[in-house]
Amino acid sequence: MSTSLLGYDMPSPIIVAPTGAHKLANPEGEVATARAAAACNTIMVLSFGSSCKIEEVAASCDAVRFYQLYVYRRRDVSATLVRRAESLGFKAIVLTVDTPVLGRREADIRNKMVFPLSPNLEVLMSLDDDVGTEGGSKFERFARETLDPSLSWKDVEWLKSITSLPILLKGIVTAEDARKAVEAGVAGVIVSNHGARQLDYAPPTITVLEEVVKAVAGAVPVLVDGGIRRGTDVFKALALGAKAVMVGRPVFFGLAARGEAGARHVIEMLNRELDLAMALCGCRSVAEVTRRHVQTDGDRIRAML
Ligand SMILES: Cc1cc2nc3c(=O)[nH]c(=O)nc-3n(C[C@H](O)[C@H](O)[C@H](O)COP(=O)(O)O)c2cc1C
Repeated sequence: MSTSLLGYDMPSPIIVAPTGAHKLANPEGEVATARAAAACNTIMVLSFGSSCKIEEVAASCDAVRFYQLYVYRRRDVSATLVRRAESLGFKAIVLTVDTPVLGRREADIRNKMVFPLSPNLEVLMSLDDDVGTEGGSKFERFARETLDPSLSWKDVEWLKSITSLPILLKGIVTAEDARKAVEAGVAGVIVSNHGARQLDYAPPTITVLEEVVKAVAGAVPVLVDGGIRRGTDVFKALALGAKAVMVGRPVFFGLAARGEAGARHVIEMLNRELDLAMALCGCRSVAEVTRRHVQTDGDRIRAML
């Protein structure tokens, strides 16, 4: 199952997606997740919304990590975060491009969601203090006041101009955008609809993966996330051309259940399941998982062969 991503070797093509506020799941937060990922020798993408300080996560264990970023109205904040990640040895920047504005998360609004804002964003946090329960979701207001809705390809150029780290774009779901991403000089494309948390009726990522892979034509690795819950899901993504998958909520759930050990268990379970799927499909390496191993019917995967 061994895979190499941006030159980093991993025992399997499964990495940890960026999700914010791990302290909601476990008091150790992202430090526990980072240790779980490191124990599995895989890459964790640390969210901008980490509830642990970036420095704390970096010091917690030795591992290859990527840093996930948004473009804020205040470019100096984005730039400072990039510099911090760079100096702490993060190996790539994952720029999430599907959130120029936050989707309307009605459950969060109804529940008056209190999202523990990240200690890494002190400069943006003063506006948060006076948000009472009146305003519905605290996170929604934070996003509205800080994210830059004018996000465009120019910002990718800008990001390239301030960092030498490779940049991956997260949130691509069309061939057109995938081609533009490659033209813009990114190091990787991540097919994602933010776990369907942004817009209802956004296409399921597995249904657009292949068109993105074709458009990218091997120029850079294509990753995918969203609904990867079983080793067979990883297998299907590989068959449709993904280099690796990212897993978000399952890791979060493992963390909630049993902290570091739980998050580690989830990754190991997916690894074991992928191992089994590959063995039973006669694949001795990820390179042997090919398009011929899945049958599709319109948007649906019909069978694995
Ligand atoms: C609680 C939660 C927090 C998330 N936070 C972020 C984030 O900070 N940045 C980001 O790019 N994506 C974020 N995502 C989206 C995930 O990276 C991922 O795209 C999505 O959850 C799909 O993967 P999954 O189905 O395995 O969870 C978040 C998702 C969840 C569920």
